[in-house]
Amino acid sequence: MYRCLRWLLFRLDPEQAHERVLNALRYLHRLGVLKWITPVVNAESKSWFGVRFPNPIGLAAGLDKNGEYIEALAALGFGFIEVGTVTPRPQSGNEKPRLFRLPKAQALINRFGFNSKGVDYLLDQIRASHYKGVLGINIGKNADTPLENAKEDYLYCLERVYLYASYIVINISSPNTQGLRELQHGRYFDDLLSSIVAAKNELAARNHRVVPLLVKVSPDLTPDEIESLAMSMLSHRIDGLIATNTTVSREGVTGMLGADQSGGLSGKPLVDKSTSVIAQFRQALGPHVPIIGVGGIDSITAAEAKLQAGANLLQVYTGLIYQGPGLIRRLLKLC
Ligand SMILES: Cc1cc2nc3c(=O)[nH]c(=O)nc-3n(C[C@H](O)[C@H](O)[C@H](O)COP(=O)(O)O)c2cc1C
Repeated sequence: MYRCLRWLLFRLDPEQAHERVLNALRYLHRLGVLKWITPVVNAESKSWFGVRFPNPIGLAAGLDKNGEYIEALAALGFGFIEVGTVTPRPQSGNEKPRLFRLPKAQALINRFGFNSKGVDYLLDQIRASHYKGVLGINIGKNADTPLENAKEDYLYCLERVYLYASYIVINISSPNTQGLRELQHGRYFDDLLSSIVAAKNELAARNHRVVPLLVKVSPDLTPDEIESLAMSMLSHRIDGLIATNTTVSREGVTGMLGADQSGGLSGKPLVDKSTSVIAQFRQALGPHVPIIGVGGIDSITAAEAKLQAGANLLQVYTGLIYQGPGLIRRLLKLC
């Protein structure tokens, strides 16, 4: 059935199709229809970084940037939902079109550039939602904030979202905000982490509640960069890692229609690259830092490879667009 629906949806502009599907899902959820297709999950719940996950399959950041569809998405069977990336102030992101399909490769290229209605709007949505499950909040910086002041944006978002998140993700790996990935390097990274961890400790003491902090990394890091990021994460006692974001590489799609669009590539062509980055981080971090593996998961085989590489939890995005909600049901058989 999803194949027919996809055929229709793929006739629409990709961004419009996303919006229509999400609005339809929310409508069906409000009508109470979605629960008929929600898979029965027999997974044993497990705790990672102090949070209990009912199952290990989550929704990756970027599909529900403003927290407008949390309940409907959760009704598809996800064990956790990550919203964002959210920025301190609202911003419209890059000019449209900014999302492209590469159906032959089961891939997407996006250059949204953190289109966000801002952190206050996101919090209003969360407060209005009845979702009681695991909620990750992924935070970023505004495009017009200079790199030197990026820290202030992350600190502002951290403070605002702290009491609403099951875990918080520092996104420094989107390729679509100029210079953002530089925050993954050297002095920027150490400085950012030490300020954020200090703020988190203060928030934890003030609120008597510890919210884990995760860092989301790019798949385009060199082995040396992975090693040095892992060392900094260990020394700052970061609670977990999300690997990976989209890639700027065009390996596996060169020559295909749409492949020359700038932006981050996701989906099938990313799968091995992100798995290899997970394996390298697992080696460098040791066994105790939980890793959420994401990048091109579209089958049990791809999911198992991520787990074998050292991931503890998984997330999907592009696979969901190509395979529909049946993918979640299939992946849940892993548990
Ligand atoms: C259209 C689109 C928008 C995205 N937006 C975000 C975002 O705002 N923040 C973020 O951390 N990752 C974002 N991502 C990256 C995904 O969360 C995920 O890390 C990446 O797509 C790899 O997984 P996939 O191959 O299953 O899609 C986005 C991905 C896509 C396709």
